[in-house]
Amino acid sequence: MSTVALKDVTKVWPGGTLAVDRVSMDVNDGEFLVLLGPSGCGKSTVLRMIAGLEDPTAGEILLNGAPVMDVPPRDRSIAMVFQDFALYPHMTVGDNIGFPLKLSGVDPAPRMERVGDVASALGIAEVLGRKPGQLSGGQRQRVAMGRAIVRRPGLFLMDEPLSNLDSGLRAELRAEITGLTRELGVTTMYVTHDQAEALTMADRVAIMRRGVLQDIGTPTEVYGRPATLYVAAFLGAPRMNLLEAQVYVHLDRYVTLNFGEQALYLPWTDIRARAVARYHGERIVVGVRAEALTPVSPDTQGDVLHGRIRFLEHHGHESLAFLDIGATAIVVDELGGKAPQQAVPGGALRRVGSALQRLTGRGERSAVATLEPAQRTSVLNDPGRHHRRPAELAVRLAPYPAVSPGHPLSVAVRMDALHFFDDRGDRIDIGWR
Ligand SMILES: Nc1ncnc2c1ncn2[C@@H]1O[C@H](COP(=O)(O)OP(=O)(O)OP(=O)(O)O)[C@@H](O)[C@H]1O
Ligand SMILES: [Mg+2]
Repeated sequence: MSTVALKDVTKVWPGGTLAVDRVSMDVNDGEFLVLLGPSGCGKSTVLRMIAGLEDPTAGEILLNGAPVMDVPPRDRSIAMVFQDFALYPHMTVGDNIGFPLKLSGVDPAPRMERVGDVASALGIAEVLGRKPGQLSGGQRQRVAMGRAIVRRPGLFLMDEPLSNLDSGLRAELRAEITGLTRELGVTTMYVTHDQAEALTMADRVAIMRRGVLQDIGTPTEVYGRPATLYVAAFLGAPRMNLLEAQVYVHLDRYVTLNFGEQALYLPWTDIRARAVARYHGERIVVGVRAEALTPVSPDTQGDVLHGRIRFLEHHGHESLAFLDIGATAIVVDELGGKAPQQAVPGGALRRVGSALQRLTGRGERSAVATLEPAQRTSVLNDPGRHHRRPAELAVRLAPYPAVSPGHPLSVAVRMDALHFFDDRGDRIDIGWR
């Protein structure tokens, strides 16, 4: 059984790439923690440092409360499964799974028994005599998992173990992996760039971007109250609608969120109105997920937005309408694909060193906050990370809606489900953390 703690862990690769930037987190005993983020954000680097395959440039890693810097990988009681695991092709499944036990000198009889137990738990007991070449992709993946857990590790590290499998098998194995690790009670850190996988499997999700931990919490917390604009945009399908709004305060009666051609009104009685009112005269980002929008008749009074359907997407169980509402959308970059390299000008180590001296709570946010005002780049005006375009408001409709592109459509907005972010991409909320 294991706990993991990262304290301001930083990794700068020899070339100057800042792969992991002052990441701090605690993983509880028996917890299933998913590390989520786009390609290149530093997920594998975090796992490899915990496993002892790489050394952090700065910061501390503790296993069961004790620093592990001087503990060699084989003594960390960690098992790791990689995306491109390799099985021994000339050995049977049973021998593959039992190999780590053989290496540590376990006698054949208890070894076979343990292999049998693991194979049954993974549903591959009937193929123990086969060679890897005679297995399906999913079975091979199970063998790799079996080989990793057979020594009963205290900590299980899995780096995109399902990414080579087709979607049906992935879904099946997801449930098996969480079932198995919970049954064994083994602490697990699981890497993926698939937000749906993260939300379905995790006890808690840690979202990374460019080496910085953006948010950590239960799936409900990070989906329901994302800490940053990036997290809001990353989680959920369809993606959260992110609209630019100008804030006007009206004599302590309500706060107008002006989207351009139309507006919504946050009553002063709404507990978040005061926090939003501080942005009077400024632009903020208002986030609203499709599930907070309900189609209504055009003469409905209240919190309603009117638009025209630009296009429809049919997803079988539902359709999505994308509405032109005369507003501006904020598009968050780097939600997938390769993140740009982060070469730090002027000596990466020096900058990281001084950055470490600042006591940071939440990564990028605090890093930005400590810059001089002139250096501060607004998220809204930084085209490298976010950009604007005419909004296409995603709205959920029935599978075969009686509307088509060009039709007008009005939607009621659940005001309590709105999310507010400032121009740095940080959440605006009353008493927010
Ligand atoms: N051995 C290395 N030497 C130099 N740079 C590296 C090395 N390994 C990784 N990097 C760089 O560090 C950054 C983080 O890489 P990492 O492999 O941790 O990303 P990741 O989140 O696991 O991405 P993916 O989802 O593509 O696996 C990237 O910019 C990557 O190019
Ligand atoms: Mg990786």
